[in-house]
Amino acid sequence: MSKVETTHQKGGRPTINKTTAIAVDGPAGAGKSTVARKVAEKLGFLYVDTGAMYRALTLFALRRGVPINNDEALSELIKQVRLDVKPGRILLNGEDVTVPIRSPEVSRHVSLVARLPSVRRYLLKLQRELAANVNVVMEGRDIGTVVLPEADKKFFITASVAERAKRRRQDLLTQGHDISVEKLEKEIAERDLLDSTRDIAPLKPASDAIFIDTTRMTIQEVVDRIVSEVQGNR
Ligand code: DC
Repeated sequence: MSKVETTHQKGGRPTINKTTAIAVDGPAGAGKSTVARKVAEKLGFLYVDTGAMYRALTLFALRRGVPINNDEALSELIKQVRLDVKPGRILLNGEDVTVPIRSPEVSRHVSLVARLPSVRRYLLKLQRELAANVNVVMEGRDIGTVVLPEADKKFFITASVAERAKRRRQDLLTQGHDISVEKLEKEIAERDLLDSTRDIAPLKPASDAIFIDTTRMTIQEVVDRIVSEVQGNR
């Protein structure tokens, strides 16, 4: 991947520590998170959910009452933020915000925050630092195109809007939010449009990404497909 560290052992022979990066991109609700988490577990890599990072900044801005689409205001806010990515969790200034970042309110505002140059600059740096230090399965919208263009393998995962809304509804129900499929379809289509037409780092497959349509696939089938691609069995 991007960074190769060379260390010298006592005997003088250099050993090369090269990190491996797997990029998983795709639209909301395509099953990326579940799949990427399972692939990371299987490979023993750190799973990095970059959407959670945008969500954490959105939560912080909402709590502080900062105007959500103002780049200058967010740029100031970022100076007061520390994000820590732990396996399966994200900490905002030390507080575990893994659950609150999934609220419908954060979901409604996050695409606006993710468009801002100051936010993208800040998270790009953080994401690259993570991938330079450990093996990662990094999941998002622009990982294969912008964050890690030299990732070892890239996947673009998608599914029909109807299927994605159905899956999102199930997810939300388990968190106690009952939202109709129709409403979710509309929200997902709006979010797709915002994410794929923004100026900076829009959602699009990298030219060398492996494209997987998961509409009629089980999670396990997608996981197996990715792991076998990574392990060179295909
Ligand atoms: O994956 P998710 O739905 O939790 O992502 C939340 C939002 O963050 C989504 O609207 C798009 C944005 N995002 C982004 O712009 N770039 C990324 N790498 C990851 C997420």
